[in-house]
Amino acid sequence: MSVQLPFELDYKPHLGTKTDYGIGFCGTGGIVQYAHIPAYKRVNFNMVACYDLNVATAKQVAAQHFIPNAYGSLDELLADPAVDIVDIAVPPWEQLAVVEKVAAAGKHMLCQKPLSQDFNEAKRIVELAKEAGVKQAINQQMRWDAGIRASKDLINRGIIGQPTDAQIQVSVLTPWHMWPWLAAVPGLEVMFHSIHYIDAIRYLFGNPEWVTSRHARYAKQGIVKGETKTVTVMDYADGLQALVSVNHYNAYAEPFATFRFIGTEGAITGTIGLMYNYPAGRPDTIEITSEQFGAGVKITPTLDELWIPDAFVGTMASLMIAIETDSTPQDNSTDDNLNTLRVVNAAYRSAAENRSVRFDEIQ
Ligand SMILES: NC(=O)c1ccc[n+]([C@@H]2O[C@H](COP(=O)([O-])OP(=O)(O)OC[C@H]3O[C@@H](n4cnc5c(N)ncnc54)[C@H](O)[C@@H]3O)[C@@H](O)[C@H]2O)c1
Repeated sequence: MSVQLPFELDYKPHLGTKTDYGIGFCGTGGIVQYAHIPAYKRVNFNMVACYDLNVATAKQVAAQHFIPNAYGSLDELLADPAVDIVDIAVPPWEQLAVVEKVAAAGKHMLCQKPLSQDFNEAKRIVELAKEAGVKQAINQQMRWDAGIRASKDLINRGIIGQPTDAQIQVSVLTPWHMWPWLAAVPGLEVMFHSIHYIDAIRYLFGNPEWVTSRHARYAKQGIVKGETKTVTVMDYADGLQALVSVNHYNAYAEPFATFRFIGTEGAITGTIGLMYNYPAGRPDTIEITSEQFGAGVKITPTLDELWIPDAFVGTMASLMIAIETDSTPQDNSTDDNLNTLRVVNAAYRSAAENRSVRFDEIQ
């Protein structure tokens, strides 16, 4: 017998009433082409211009997706009055210089994760938007992944009671060739990938007290310089422990990407569909048990959204709502994202110094 939830799960992105802000892309590489643009097309967001250092790429993207203007410089894109929001999707070491110009032009912006590999630079990016009085959000979109957002709704409703144990465990064969520039970065897995899981854990449970992280390389990872297998534990003041464990070189065993959030009165378990076949993915699955539903009852609602592209609607929609209502982006302000970067930086310090690091040590 299939059992239904006694309420409707709130897990899809919410749109504001004004959704026609003009979006101009700075950087039109992989993620814009296979995630941002398909997401924005689904909800008719207004893509008006693009620019990329590689002008041919920008022109090709504009032609393919009927974006009216492909510019030869960022200055030209910023001078276009139709551009209200700059959607930045460049490698992180390029981001600060782009943000300086966007803020000076008085345009709102969606930044990419990580804000920067350098924490001081990340703080500067956040300050620049404040000084310019423009809205700035981060495209840290796992918060809108269906399984995570559904879990947030369930936890808020008290379905699992007090959370005591959280785990995100991923063991897959990652297509690193999609990001050739990542081969050279010194900090790879936590900075560019586990950052999503760390941010999702923070979204669900807030900031930890302690961070402990262990990092390793895979014997056959060749020219890829950084760590590719990591285990990170986030300890909370109330006894909650969160584990993020990731292996990107599972070439032989059955891949898995799972989440488990266990509490004093129930549990939520599920799979992260995107990681089974990146970037096409499949929908997440979720299974809920709770004292509220009775012993032995498992409820398995169907989640019919994909991380890519659907979650990418959420990050941009949140920025648009902040502009419309003159407020801070609710779930993806860059100010809040600095705390995700604090955990990331604490993880690197923990691994380098073989010790647990307090969250507030990173300032
Ligand atoms: N949010 C996510 O889930 C997610 C997923 C993948 C990548 N990313 C991030 O998105 C960014 C881009 O990643 P990608 O996979 O699209 O990489 P990519 O290499 O496919 O594309 C990057 C593009 O940026 C252009 N570029 C570089 N410097 C520029 C500059 N100063 N001005 C304008 N264009 C410039 C390049 O020519 C290239 O076309 C990175 O910061 C990455 O970390 C985020």
